[in-house]
Amino acid sequence: MSSKNFSFAAKIKESGDIRKIISVINEYNGIVKKVLYNSRIDSSIAFFEIANFSSDLMTGLIKADYILSSVQEPLFIKIKIHLPRRARAISEILTHADDAGVIITLMEFDTQEAKKDDTLVLMLNAVESQSVKAFLDYLKTTYAIDIVEYTPNNEDLDNTIFYITYANRIRRFAHDQGDHFVLSFLADITSIAFELKKLGYDPEDIFMKIYENGETLNNTLGENFYADYQVIQLKPDTSLHCFQLPCGGNVYILENATESLMIDTGYGIYHDDIMRMCQHFGLWQNDKKKKLFISHGDADHCGGAGYIGMVPYSHPETIDLIRSGNRAYKSVTEGSKLEQIYTTMIGTFSKWLPPDSYQKFQPSDKDKVGAFPVFGSLKACGYTFTVLESHGGHQYGQLFLLNEEAGLFFTVDSCLNLKSISPERTKYNQLADLFMTSVNVDSDLARKERKDLLEIASDLTAKSDKPFYICCGHGAISTIKDGKLAAFGETTRYTHS
Ligand SMILES: [Fe+2]
Ligand SMILES: [Fe+2]
Repeated sequence: MSSKNFSFAAKIKESGDIRKIISVINEYNGIVKKVLYNSRIDSSIAFFEIANFSSDLMTGLIKADYILSSVQEPLFIKIKIHLPRRARAISEILTHADDAGVIITLMEFDTQEAKKDDTLVLMLNAVESQSVKAFLDYLKTTYAIDIVEYTPNNEDLDNTIFYITYANRIRRFAHDQGDHFVLSFLADITSIAFELKKLGYDPEDIFMKIYENGETLNNTLGENFYADYQVIQLKPDTSLHCFQLPCGGNVYILENATESLMIDTGYGIYHDDIMRMCQHFGLWQNDKKKKLFISHGDADHCGGAGYIGMVPYSHPETIDLIRSGNRAYKSVTEGSKLEQIYTTMIGTFSKWLPPDSYQKFQPSDKDKVGAFPVFGSLKACGYTFTVLESHGGHQYGQLFLLNEEAGLFFTVDSCLNLKSISPERTKYNQLADLFMTSVNVDSDLARKERKDLLEIASDLTAKSDKPFYICCGHGAISTIKDGKLAAFGETTRYTHS
């Protein structure tokens, strides 16, 4: 017997199946914790979560053929058409099937005099999903039809097979993970859709937005990769390079003749493209002493660390947060299912390989800067950065880097110049907002965090006779002008070609 709740996707073939599944669960002393079923989304699958799970219970469910274990079944669809007693009905249907290019692999028709209409059963080979869709659309407008058996891999066929088709569409974003993962992922997404439905959102819209998120990440790789690039020459041999990737957080590289410091890695899925881009700019090459700094545990900032293969300078709590699998770790929203599911989803979609250990910072002679405690110091490229510990508004354990001499302040995700974020990136970021209401794990703290960061930045800007750069986690490097963040200098678009 396991103490952990057990989740599974159940096949619903006829009304009454949910009741029967619950009876099987009761018979083996399982406790139903959650049932997600909405026939308007998909009438053929329900998601169950049960406590007090046992192998006998599993055997019982398998024996009754209720467990859906695969999303890859043969490509056939069986339909029952209720035919009016009309002479040419069958030949009309078969002509439409021919015209649509649908392959019929089984046909059953037998006139039943006692009934007022006949039934025609067809098995369709659904390799060409578009043809099948066209054919079903025609049938639906003309006759009453039932889909009696389905198999996956056909997109947009019917609501009765929504989950299976959706699972197959998002499978490619799950990067080589098996059916078991895809099904539990599907259960998670469904749980989100049901939660958000309570807040008035349309579940179909949620499923669509999640799909778009995976698609956008996958469509901005390789030859489709781009980055918006800024460079700031700090000294004759020292420069700061900022790369805004197509989705997610910025990657910064501070470099002089001997050293290279990378600040955040972007999503893991972009690793190869980032390395190719660095090669183009002659950055982050092996002749330099390299250091890696990770500001916080979101996938778009730390997800590439494992590919880089260096132990980063980071907050120990960031490593614990990553291990917890919940970006809301140690925050007021820690218990939110949405935060947890979002963490898994975005980690999976973005191929995250986060760090599993950290390097300690050097001590600092300061205790506090503004409202922030000093966490240590980090030496790189001739500068000593003061490492500030955030309030935990955006995320617990987030760190900022500050160096007055260089005029650099890495405020990461706690102080963004939203106006400098391009429309396509803003669109991409909306999913996180939709999922979690806010990307900040504690909105009140986040507001204070931003205000406190801007206060330091404004003071240092006023004190300095050269530009003071705010290096945000997303969007352009900015300076403070008339009390507001304004993108600094030129931004150019990099592509591989
Ligand atoms: Fe971010
Ligand atoms: Fe973040």
